[in-house]
Amino acid sequence: MTGQTEARKIIVGVTGGIAAYKSPELVRRLRDSGAEVRVVMTTGAKAFISPLTLQAVSGHRVHEHLLDADAEAGMGHIELARWADDLIIAPATAHVLARLATGMADDLLATLALATEARIWLAPAMNRAMWQSRQVSDNCRRLEELGMYLLGPGDGGQACGETGLGRMLEPDELVAEVMTGSASLAGRYFIITAGPTHEPLDPVRFLGNRSSGRMGFALAQALVEAGARVDLVTGPVNLATPAGVRRTDVQTADQMLTAVFESISGADGFIGVAAVSDYRPSEAAADKIKKTGESLTLQLEPNPDILASVAKSEKRPSLVMGFAAETRNLEAAARGKLKTKKLDLIAANLVGNGLAFDRPDNALEVFSEQHHWRLERQSKMALARRLTAIIAEQLSSERKTA
Ligand code: C5P
Repeated sequence: MTGQTEARKIIVGVTGGIAAYKSPELVRRLRDSGAEVRVVMTTGAKAFISPLTLQAVSGHRVHEHLLDADAEAGMGHIELARWADDLIIAPATAHVLARLATGMADDLLATLALATEARIWLAPAMNRAMWQSRQVSDNCRRLEELGMYLLGPGDGGQACGETGLGRMLEPDELVAEVMTGSASLAGRYFIITAGPTHEPLDPVRFLGNRSSGRMGFALAQALVEAGARVDLVTGPVNLATPAGVRRTDVQTADQMLTAVFESISGADGFIGVAAVSDYRPSEAAADKIKKTGESLTLQLEPNPDILASVAKSEKRPSLVMGFAAETRNLEAAARGKLKTKKLDLIAANLVGNGLAFDRPDNALEVFSEQHHWRLERQSKMALARRLTAIIAEQLSSERKTA
């Protein structure tokens, strides 16, 4: 990622939609705002706009081919992938959204999107009925889960003569989102807990829960994208570590508590997303517990409350946030926990009956002492980005009132 003095390096991907006539204006405005820009076009894009136009406005030869020895000898797809801080696909047709959602690598743009670690922004542009289709909606949800950002689309008159959602956002709106929509947490340090804990009963069995860890991992990724440093302490999950996140793996609540307190000094925020087991077996048997045919009683004892311990510790970060999974009375329960655990923010959701746990999407209600935000059902990645904006706002208001 670029420092403040280095120009942001942006690849604009142009695909074959009528809104491609706005792409040169987008390139020009990105350059006006200080970015260095390269352009990649698909074959379809060339039916709408000439590479020469985009070469003129970007100041560089346009990249068009994956399997062109000359082009690859210059700046091939891997060099382009490494060069970029951001890849903006504008317009993004239904076709390119489908190709990216399935991981196709059938042309230069799709291969680049697979190979790059840059932020990927998508500005969909299509007929309103296409935009509303199940296929496009499902692809967009998948793309957000994969960590890509959707920009729009906007509402209004369309090239096909219809009116509705599906217009590509205007170049100045795209530039505003891309140039200012990140890095609001630069210099901040967060610790996040995620996933379940496994409390051993014997060498092969444990007490656990259905948490997948997805929400905590998505939040870690969103905070890093916003410029923060993140330590993620996670219970057993089957998830890849987001780029730039430092991960510590633990099994039990006790180990999670220790790992959290090892890193807490200097943290600006602690976010307890983990579904920590409230109880653990008083004793873990040294050998596998044998079946006897008799009923078996397990003696449990309470685990430490990691979140409450952080909130009352001398090393308390200025922002402490919890999550609450409830089966009823959401607001009362969430506000109760906000108070008793001495939190600044709590994100609450209803669970049970297939809601929230082990699913890619969720809906959340977030409470602070003074505010209440309702975040409707969306992918956990999209939710994580909304939460990141709330967290940034909360931290900056603390700074103002400090
Ligand atoms: O009280 P409850 O378990 O519903 O609180 C949930 C919140 O507290 C979550 O943020 C969870 O990560 C945190 N928690 C914790 N340690 C525990 C139990 C819950 O950090 N032992």
